[in-house]
Amino acid sequence: MEAPNTLSARLARATSAIRSRDARVPDIAVVLGSGLSPFASTLENATTIEFPDIPHMPVVTVPGHAGKLVLGTLPGVPNSPVVAALAGRVHLYEGHAMDTVVFASRLLVTLGAKVLLLTNAAGAISPIARPGDLVLISDHLNLQGQNPLIGPNDSALGPRFPDMSNVYDRELRARATVAAQRVDCELREGVYAALSGPSYETPAEIRMLRAMGADLVGMSTVPEAIAARHMGAKVLGISCATNLAAGVSAHELSHDEVEQTAKKTRDKFVRIVTEILADLGRAAPSA
Ligand code: HPA
Repeated sequence: MEAPNTLSARLARATSAIRSRDARVPDIAVVLGSGLSPFASTLENATTIEFPDIPHMPVVTVPGHAGKLVLGTLPGVPNSPVVAALAGRVHLYEGHAMDTVVFASRLLVTLGAKVLLLTNAAGAISPIARPGDLVLISDHLNLQGQNPLIGPNDSALGPRFPDMSNVYDRELRARATVAAQRVDCELREGVYAALSGPSYETPAEIRMLRAMGADLVGMSTVPEAIAARHMGAKVLGISCATNLAAGVSAHELSHDEVEQTAKKTRDKFVRIVTEILADLGRAAPSA
């Protein structure tokens, strides 16, 4: 008989492939955005699993996304939580179906992560963020024209109509803000609008997004946040503002600029994310 190919069956196969390499259950997971993957190599006691070694994981095609899952602990943090870091994500614009886009996020929750920290590179629409700033996502606008929950609902994973009134958990945001202050960083909050891409926005689209209440714009994160909430995990989001959005900036946008800025913020990003994850680990010990 052929093995079943339901979402639950695919998640189970991917989970057992990972567990056979490292049986630790992650307390927290972090998805690393464009140019932010180097965080994964700061983890200690690490097991690195390449995406192709995980059944059903999609192949990553964007430069700056490595495509590996690292399980490990935070350097210099006593009783560190076990962290799963996903370096490389897939996007809707690569031509993947939504269930493929969110597969890795669902896998992280299936592995046991109770909190998913989603990070990304984003364009800054409103003056709350300048290039190089890190911003806590307070809420989102799903403007990708699709939703990862469209299709039959597996009620073992979550409800048909999940609530989205507190996607980026209020209490965890408050903790993250205090944790960032401990490493001398002010984290502002902003609304993230997700578009499909891959073309960057026009200045008219940016004016529209601003009128709609968006502070940041990007091409990821929102489907993953929806899927994680569907499964009952808590979500935090951090955008690295890598550029002024189209029309706000006097010059043309490029992926190079996005990667360069993300690279420059790397040390700050690692410091803040480490502090936030250590704090979340203290809040939700694995035992
Ligand atoms: N627009 C969309 N996605 C992005 C941007 C942007 O300006 N910068 C980084 N990702």
